[in-house]
Amino acid sequence: MSKEIKNVEYGLEKIFEGAQDFLPLLGTDYVEFYVGNAKQAAHFYKTAFGFQSYAYAGLETGLTDRVSYVLKQDKIRLVLTTALNSDSPIGEHVKKHGDGVKVVALWVEDARQAYEETIKRGAKSYQEPIVEKDENGETVRAGIYTYGETVHMFVERKNYNGMFLPGFVEWKSDYNPTPVGLKFIDHMVGNVGWGEMNTWVKWYEDVMGFVNFLSFDDKQIHTEYSALMSKVMSNGNGRIKFPINEPAKGNKRSQIEEYLDFYEGPGVQHIAVATDDIIKTVGELRARGIEFLPPPPQAYYDEIPGRLGVHMEMMKEDIKELQKLSILVDADEEGYLLQIFTKPVEDRPTLFFEIIQRMGAKGFGAGNFKALFESIEREQAKRGTL
Ligand code: FE2
Repeated sequence: MSKEIKNVEYGLEKIFEGAQDFLPLLGTDYVEFYVGNAKQAAHFYKTAFGFQSYAYAGLETGLTDRVSYVLKQDKIRLVLTTALNSDSPIGEHVKKHGDGVKVVALWVEDARQAYEETIKRGAKSYQEPIVEKDENGETVRAGIYTYGETVHMFVERKNYNGMFLPGFVEWKSDYNPTPVGLKFIDHMVGNVGWGEMNTWVKWYEDVMGFVNFLSFDDKQIHTEYSALMSKVMSNGNGRIKFPINEPAKGNKRSQIEEYLDFYEGPGVQHIAVATDDIIKTVGELRARGIEFLPPPPQAYYDEIPGRLGVHMEMMKEDIKELQKLSILVDADEEGYLLQIFTKPVEDRPTLFFEIIQRMGAKGFGAGNFKALFESIEREQAKRGTL
């Protein structure tokens, strides 16, 4: 059996040699966004992305400073949080960065141990371990800073039977748009500043025990105008994959530079969510108003059989159908993958989503980078930021 990345129902076996065992991660627990208006953002993620109302905390549950809506689709949990007054670090975060990802929470057996081990290895503390309780038991959470103002929160829930976290109540709604087939988070990408990629690669190695299992330099990731560099970090069991990007010098402004300018610092660039039927998922997302990057030229689709080589035989999807939806295709030694990228989901050109269907391939669509970046550059040109 090869070191296959399946992403579904892993055991805790080590599939990446070199990764350290001091921080066993069970998976992504939740992703928390700090936003200007969580009520409206929740409506968007329900209506357009098919997330389901799940849990809620706010004035009605005794909070006075903030409100949080939790949305769920299969294994993915999003938390949307807004400040209720001007004197709030949440409001400050939104003022500086716009809507964006604050917390990438990681599910662990022992949050105190995860905190101690990472602090010992040089992590900067965000929150010491806290125990939260209600009638369903207790959770332990502790957090450390990663790049920029982004946080990794360790969540221990083995003594908790409630639906989300203590303090949250079930959120029942009469408005329940159907899911679009999003299953789990495949990877989450961080953009860091000029020359900082290797600093953060080393940080994930030293502090989190991750390994660097794929790298792309600016010779591979460039267009006529701009360039970037990227290294993919993974934990030992492959459940958590964090590519890290930095801008590289090109003739014009790198999309990473544009992100850093508008987010005003490093942060999460995109969240890649997996589906097992991308044609259905993307068709549904388009019908609900999600905007994707414009399609690559006809030549891109004409070249697919050549690029897929031996994997062309196993390809079930019709290329015409993929082209109609602007879905991209790439292959590696082990199979192929289908992917597509949304436009930024805020007015600042910052965070966007990727929809991905893996058919054996474990890469990140390197063969699509050129087509993708040319598409992004056309958008940058419209914004006057290329
Ligand atoms: Fe990606």
